[in-house]
Amino acid sequence: MKLIAVKDYKQLSEKAAKLIIQKVNEKPDAVLGLATGGTVVGIYEELIRDHKENATSYKHTRSVNLDEYIGLAPYHEQSYFSYMNELFFKEIDIQAQHTHLPNGQAHNVTEECERYEQLIKALGGIDLQLLGIGENGHIGFNEPGTSFHSLTHVVKLAQSTREANARFFSSIDSVPTHAITMGIATIMSSREIMLVVSGEKKAEILCELFTHGKTESIPATVLKDHLNVTVIADEQALSVLNKQENHTKLFTT
Ligand code: F6R
Repeated sequence: MKLIAVKDYKQLSEKAAKLIIQKVNEKPDAVLGLATGGTVVGIYEELIRDHKENATSYKHTRSVNLDEYIGLAPYHEQSYFSYMNELFFKEIDIQAQHTHLPNGQAHNVTEECERYEQLIKALGGIDLQLLGIGENGHIGFNEPGTSFHSLTHVVKLAQSTREANARFFSSIDSVPTHAITMGIATIMSSREIMLVVSGEKKAEILCELFTHGKTESIPATVLKDHLNVTVIADEQALSVLNKQENHTKLFTT
């Protein structure tokens, strides 16, 4: 894993956006794997700013999102479908039919998982997958204990994840209990992965990611096996890792 240390959230957003823009310029029909949550909001803001100022075009770009809650109507304000449309898609020139999320309202969610997996294959696989990390090490909604061989599947959300996401809902009781997520093997089949980590709350898990061996109890540690992973982390997120002896060995940029 290559680690890019940046000062703060603003720099993290700018750096991550720059790498995405580079990818889209190199390959206009790239398949971008996208994430939701708090950390990536600034990246989408940067991409929108760049689209407006520099006319980077997403006309041929395809996107697949990591996950979606089960049971929320697509236009529910906390669905990831709404999040993506509101915070990114409606502000750029990506074509709606090129944007994909798991359907959390499918009658048969098992078939929906299979469809999503086939869809990613039919698109030719993911060129660049953007990831955030949960405080418990989850990636997508792959909670601790998820098999590294998992494909797109239904998950019961960990209580800690529901509590972390309750900030976006009126109360914890309104946070859905289940979601559809790309599996760990699905994420690992991406040609390139970018993990963004910001803030003190992520400092412990980021330290564990770099210092711990590969284990299914910390899903993100699977990334150590991928040949093209860039972690972008800000000073606050790096605060625990920076206290470790020999930590500088871990820095490649
Ligand atoms: C979102 C996702 C999650 C988040 C993670 C971090 O699509 O799959 O894994 O990336 O929970 O969320 P924030 O950035 O809100 O801390």
